[in-house]
Amino acid sequence: MRKKIVAGNWKMNKSLPETGELIAGIKAELSTMPDAEIIVSPAFTNLYYTFELLKGTGIKLAAQNMNAADHGAFTGEISAEMLKSIGVNTVILGHSERRALFGETDALLAKKVTTAIENDMRIIFCFGEELKDRKAEKHFDVVLTQLEKGLFHIAKENWESVVLAYEPVWAIGTGETASPEQAQEMHDFIRKSVAKKYGDDIADEVSILYGGSVKPENAQELFSNPDVDGGLIGGAALDAKSFVAIANAF
Ligand code: G3P
Repeated sequence: MRKKIVAGNWKMNKSLPETGELIAGIKAELSTMPDAEIIVSPAFTNLYYTFELLKGTGIKLAAQNMNAADHGAFTGEISAEMLKSIGVNTVILGHSERRALFGETDALLAKKVTTAIENDMRIIFCFGEELKDRKAEKHFDVVLTQLEKGLFHIAKENWESVVLAYEPVWAIGTGETASPEQAQEMHDFIRKSVAKKYGDDIADEVSILYGGSVKPENAQELFSNPDVDGGLIGGAALDAKSFVAIANAF
């Protein structure tokens, strides 16, 4: 049975005290754990503190990025080993903001994916087309290329460590959510693309999350689609009530 997952990508938000407040708010809203796995992804500076706060809650923790190298002269960077040493075993890779704002290419992401696999980390692999691609009806080609160049080098046995996150760039932070039909159409294409390369057994098991202006008001109609296994949440993850409402929207 495919896992339902709701992950909150906090991006560059929340100081240490504000992190404590948000985690306390999420805990307070969670009368019972939802069916979905809940993941929060604060900034690097707040990860260990959050690890401590989440003990015994069942809420999982993820980093928003990591370097492809194991260690070395990379000022300002964070390694997989450093993340694992503070209890972080999941990492978001390939987010559109990393690709667009920090020049992360498919080739670099393929290296980061390899490093994450080598360090037994779970990967939330992000990808998605820009508005110009969709208007030119190239969105399927763009998505498949991102998967082929950034992820499809891994071995079949490594897929148990992969969560896919389709995030149409034009829906991120814009309030322009993809329609349930658009999301289902692309998720179906993604799952069929994984099946073609790795087989139905892998494709049927991999969780495919949708990201891009998911809100409590639209989460249920998105998550009710057969190939939408949850969401990667940005803005709404910064509000405890909204995030928990989305986590319960299955
Ligand atoms: O990684 C999730 C994020 O990109 C979505 O952002 O604010 O549109 O939910 P938002």
